[in-house]
Amino acid sequence: PPGFSQNFWLFGYGSLIWKPPPHFDKRVPGYIEGYVRRFWQLRWYSEDHRGTPEAPGRVVTLIERSHWESLTDHHNSTPPKVWGAAYHIPPEHVDEVRSYLDIREINGYSIQFTPIHPSPELIKSSTECTDPKPHISSAGSEPINCLVYIGLPNNPQFLGPQDPQALAEHIVRSKGPSGENKVYLYMLDDALNELSLDSGDEHVSDLARRCRKLDPEGMEGKATGHEG
Ligand code: BEZ
Repeated sequence: PPGFSQNFWLFGYGSLIWKPPPHFDKRVPGYIEGYVRRFWQLRWYSEDHRGTPEAPGRVVTLIERSHWESLTDHHNSTPPKVWGAAYHIPPEHVDEVRSYLDIREINGYSIQFTPIHPSPELIKSSTECTDPKPHISSAGSEPINCLVYIGLPNNPQFLGPQDPQALAEHIVRSKGPSGENKVYLYMLDDALNELSLDSGDEHVSDLARRCRKLDPEGMEGKATGHEG
């Protein structure tokens, strides 16, 4: 929308939760409604937008709830909230951050705007930390309109419903230049367990459990720069 760069907020529900965009000056944990988070997006490794990925992994996307309701999903219980984090980008950096995200992420995603509901508990507790990047919003707990990347069904990288066990098996063996797919899953699971103040996200934690069972010796830990 015209003029939105004056007050540009970006909502992260995948790797952006633990790997912030450049130049943000505020981070606000919270949730959005009306969407369902699913590992139904093909990860596209090609940097030149042409190549075929050698072993494309799976990353999360959001499905509009009205569309999701028309699908047969093996994970048929869904939390009403999608937890994540919103980032405010100062006006002088909006163009740069948009280009960064468009190159890095936009393949297979479309842009929507939706309000995020800041988490009062997390905002309160984060005032006590000494993190140089402030986690609190001057906007208080009013909903904030955010840009969010969504995998629409007509995007080529959108996969649709997946069998959870087959999906876990795929994630365990997928690996690409930016890291192991299972590390992305474990990082997301950990981040969501910290963020969500209610029941969390069973789709993500179920997949993480399945992967750990398939690959008990697997590396569970640290970031390898895997984006998504
Ligand atoms: C994220 O939240 O990390 C994200 C999801 C889709 C596209 C870009 C970023």
